[in-house]
Amino acid sequence: MKYSIKTGSLESLSTACLLVSVADAKKIAKSRGAGNRLALALEGFEDTAGQVRSVVLDKAIKRLLVVGGITKKAISQASFQKLIHAAATSLAQHTCKEAIWGLSGVRVSGADAAWQTRNALAALSTTLYQFDAQKQDHKKRPLTRIAVHLAPLPGQKTAGQKAVREALKAGQALDAGMALARDLGNTPPNVCNPTYLHQSARKFAQHPKVTVKCLEEKEMKRLGMGAFISVTQGSDTPGKMIVIQYRGGKAKDAPHVLVGKGITFDTGGISLKPGPAMDEMKFDMCGAATVLGATKAVIDSNLKLNLVTIVAAAENMPSGGASRPGDVVTTMSGQTVEILNTDAEGRLVLCDALTYAERFSPKSVIDVATLTGACVIALGSHAAALYSNDDGLGASISAAGDYIHDRSWPMPMWDDYQSQLRSNFADMANIGGREAGSVTAACFLSRFAKSYPWAHLDIAGVGYHTGARKGATGRPVPLLYQYLLDQLGQ
Ligand code: BES
Ligand code: MN
Ligand code: ZN
Repeated sequence: MKYSIKTGSLESLSTACLLVSVADAKKIAKSRGAGNRLALALEGFEDTAGQVRSVVLDKAIKRLLVVGGITKKAISQASFQKLIHAAATSLAQHTCKEAIWGLSGVRVSGADAAWQTRNALAALSTTLYQFDAQKQDHKKRPLTRIAVHLAPLPGQKTAGQKAVREALKAGQALDAGMALARDLGNTPPNVCNPTYLHQSARKFAQHPKVTVKCLEEKEMKRLGMGAFISVTQGSDTPGKMIVIQYRGGKAKDAPHVLVGKGITFDTGGISLKPGPAMDEMKFDMCGAATVLGATKAVIDSNLKLNLVTIVAAAENMPSGGASRPGDVVTTMSGQTVEILNTDAEGRLVLCDALTYAERFSPKSVIDVATLTGACVIALGSHAAALYSNDDGLGASISAAGDYIHDRSWPMPMWDDYQSQLRSNFADMANIGGREAGSVTAACFLSRFAKSYPWAHLDIAGVGYHTGARKGATGRPVPLLYQYLLDQLGQ
């Protein structure tokens, strides 16, 4: 989507589709002598958040999408979220080429113009995304441009407008980052394999401040990444550790590091998964997809910070060469792991990536992974599970997600849980039993993230939709990008 800004009075606009409040719709219609027509069209319309009525107006403004729930008094942030999602959903159902977002005048309690713009654009990006599906009868939506209307502010000209322009820039970068994450997530696993992820990452290197390298299996063996290798060894497709370095900050600034679980297909390995819904395990690389998406947003907007992105990409397959339950492997950290279930593979590829991250002396490390089914049971699809060994980092991540409506919820990582990982034959087992499965997975990772502030996001519930809406969501790209923006104090 291409976003821009439109100034001038609402009444004077000319467009294929304008989204407005009931009050503004009335003003516009009145100024064009179409008051009665609008009144008729709005008959029975319930003016509440979540309701939208489409009205065909005249030649200049072909269609009004009248959005309910906007009052003179400030509305709550929750109502605002509800009404922008309804507005975006309604827009998605119409076949216009361009539209104007005329809802910038809405007053929201405790929120400024930048917040409103960012959240509105995030809702639009989320709703209007389409996967260019491999379907012969696929109809691409013609809408490619949306202008945000900026109400003229008499007297006090620039401050608010400047904030909206900045927000627009960030919203544009986020749109591209989310689209990349979703495209990668949705691409079938016979195409989107570790090599494909590497090729996608290599495109970033066109930017002068970006270098991309890839550790091949031979190099990973040399580094002692026995846990990663145990996962990839069952697949005919070689595993890759992809490392992207973006140097937008000062040379001496410690980088932020993002680590993504990139299991391009998770069969479970020898601990084979049951058949139903196994196709959804193509989404087991959504952690990787979202760190790549966030990286794209950072690069596109030239943020003045240093970022290292590590993608642990492999396929978890059963074969004569696959690892078995009972195998003991040595991780890059030196710690040994007894693999009691080959389906707990995410933590095995991530632990070596976390050890590798040490060499960057990071300011913070955030890993993102569709790590456990237990996380879906605990939190469903609304919040990512958030774990951290640093309260300040955890709070920043929470706040960033709340700001851009891409929420996480803190989970405990007390020592009490660590004993579930005890093994008779190695330093630890790779599973912690039935109880608290998302927590014990995080506890496992924590043992490899002791030397820096670290957080882990389990996105098994939020990373993709199941059922009729099956597809990657692009979450938590908004959270990650916001977290990084917040680091600049902007
Ligand atoms: N990729 C799965 C986690 C998952 C399951 C994500 C369902 C989304 C939906 C992960 O690799 C896995 O299989 N985890 C196991 C861990 C268990 C063996 C300890 C799980 O959650 O069942
Ligand atoms: Mn698995
Ligand atoms: Zn997995």
